[in-house]
Amino acid sequence: MSAPRWDGLLLDARLATLREELGAYGAIADGAIGWKDGVIAFAGRRDELPGDPATLATTVESAGGRWLTPALVDCHTHLVFAGDRAPEFERRLQGVSYETIAREGGGILSTVRATRAADEEALLAAALPRALALRADGVATVEIKSGYGLDFDSERKMLRVARRVGAETGLDVRTTYLAAHALPPEYAGRADDYIAAAIEWLPRLHGEGLVDAVDAFCEGIGFSPAQTRRLFDAARALGLPVKLHADQLSDLGGGGIVADYAGLSADHIEWTNGEAVTAMARAGTVAVLLPGAFHVLRETKLPPLDALRAHGVAMAVATDLNPGTAPLQSLRLAMALACTHFRLTPEEALRGATVHAAAALGLRDRGRLALGQRADIAEWSIAHPAELCYWLGGSLLHTLRLRGTPPPP
Ligand code: NIG
Ligand code: FE
Repeated sequence: MSAPRWDGLLLDARLATLREELGAYGAIADGAIGWKDGVIAFAGRRDELPGDPATLATTVESAGGRWLTPALVDCHTHLVFAGDRAPEFERRLQGVSYETIAREGGGILSTVRATRAADEEALLAAALPRALALRADGVATVEIKSGYGLDFDSERKMLRVARRVGAETGLDVRTTYLAAHALPPEYAGRADDYIAAAIEWLPRLHGEGLVDAVDAFCEGIGFSPAQTRRLFDAARALGLPVKLHADQLSDLGGGGIVADYAGLSADHIEWTNGEAVTAMARAGTVAVLLPGAFHVLRETKLPPLDALRAHGVAMAVATDLNPGTAPLQSLRLAMALACTHFRLTPEEALRGATVHAAAALGLRDRGRLALGQRADIAEWSIAHPAELCYWLGGSLLHTLRLRGTPPPP
């Protein structure tokens, strides 16, 4: 008898493969999925299996008719930080705006003070429960930004902690350098000098293997388009991809700037104009929708959804998990908010939190249940995939497999 070919095989599964050619959700009713060395070796109809299941894999299990989707990808988070901003939340509820609080030196800068004061262990201890909360709701890949350090050592500390979050949880962590998040007080009135410093730190951090992409906050309370471009030039010189907090509170042409650099994604984009959407479509830049921040800030200006759809711009959905605008620890809840606030269909939201989110990180090896993709698989206790967006909270995840194997507890 020949040795089994695969490490694992799940039978009696309903697959939401998200393969376009298979129609709604890429669904397969009587499905099976097999994997070897962490990669999907078969994802299709059970009656198409190339042999008797018992001979195909070392471990053969039943999924009990449950739905399987690609594990979720959270492509925009700031989950490494110290402290919280609950008092700021209370002030905003009394009518003080996010911008006003930022201009007073609160907001992002209050988290910078707390994050600078925390050592690496304390920062890790604060971040881990948030990463585990995402994982408990089906996330296998998470992007984590720096941007609450704003000096070399503190940015480095954040990025090192982000890598350690991956090592501790089994999540695949992609790091993004966001030193251009806010102007630290020691550079008050000298934003151009600060950008020069952030540009100088970048190759050093990249040299330590701490940077997968570069981001900036291009906004009246952040950095100008010209400053953003200087930083992006430096990223390009190092071969690093860019993404941008673009047009969240006003239209500074952020979407167009990312497109000029063939960037991975333009994120937020509530105020992005039609011309920028066309440029994003040409450049293949993903639109990352962040309905959690929209919700918390009680925004009313919707992203240009019709234009994004009309031009075929891929739409991702992410939590933006951060202590200010989105204390949101569930990507499923972000998907639900994307449906309610932005009128995405549940299928669009699921694609947005899987295959399009992966694209927003430059990853093509995950986000669909298909041959050769990573065996990052979420098994859900639901009767229809729309439930992933329908239930607000609850524990729908039955089993998560990261490259075929459930993560450590
Ligand atoms: O994506 N807009 C800037 N950055 C974050 C908020 C960070 C904060 O308030 O701490 C965002 O919304
Ligand atoms: Fe953000």
